[in-house]
Amino acid sequence: MSTDFPQGFAHYPLYFDTAQQSELIEAVKTATETAPFFQTYMPRTGTPLSVAMTNFGPLGWVTDKDKGYRYEPVHPRTGKPWPAFPQVLTDLWTAVTDYPAQPEACLVNWYREEKNAKMGQHVDFDEEATDAPVVSVSLGDPAMFRIGGPKRGGATAGVKLLSGDVVVLGGEARQCYHGVSKVYYGESALVPNGGRINLTMRRVTLP
Ligand code: SIN
Ligand code: FE2
Repeated sequence: MSTDFPQGFAHYPLYFDTAQQSELIEAVKTATETAPFFQTYMPRTGTPLSVAMTNFGPLGWVTDKDKGYRYEPVHPRTGKPWPAFPQVLTDLWTAVTDYPAQPEACLVNWYREEKNAKMGQHVDFDEEATDAPVVSVSLGDPAMFRIGGPKRGGATAGVKLLSGDVVVLGGEARQCYHGVSKVYYGESALVPNGGRINLTMRRVTLP
């Protein structure tokens, strides 16, 4: 079943050109030298998530079996602060939102073919600032992004996200279930060791 995209959903195809995409990948590579990708686990069950994660910014989103979903100022393995936001990402936030404060977290999700990584339907609800939009950048292999309504299991609308695309979830879309049902692995050579990287920026605390 398909439906319309919710109010507040915006898709900017190829917002970043190939040179800018390479710069973003370089920024991720540099960040992972001090904040390596790590394995995360669902609360309670301890089921591993199929994506590997790291973060930019003063806060980073983490999850493990015991403490569950939350934001932390330091990397769970190294205990060190997350690397700073690249300027290009704060510029993007300013360009596509009218939120009166800066983003505080940029989650870096790496979808890898060997894990057949995807992301189940969820709402981002670990932030106090639910009035702030979520802004995301797709890099590498294309992905089928699906978004429905505020209730789990309803009809969804789908869009294929390509490398360089930007998505904004504001307004009603901010409270809507969304996920990645499929990644078209092997189509892009942008990401070192292959796959797709998604950068998801959020404002966490109320300004
Ligand atoms: C997410 O909703 O957290 C990720 C979306 C994406 O990978 O495009
Ligand atoms: Fe999300």
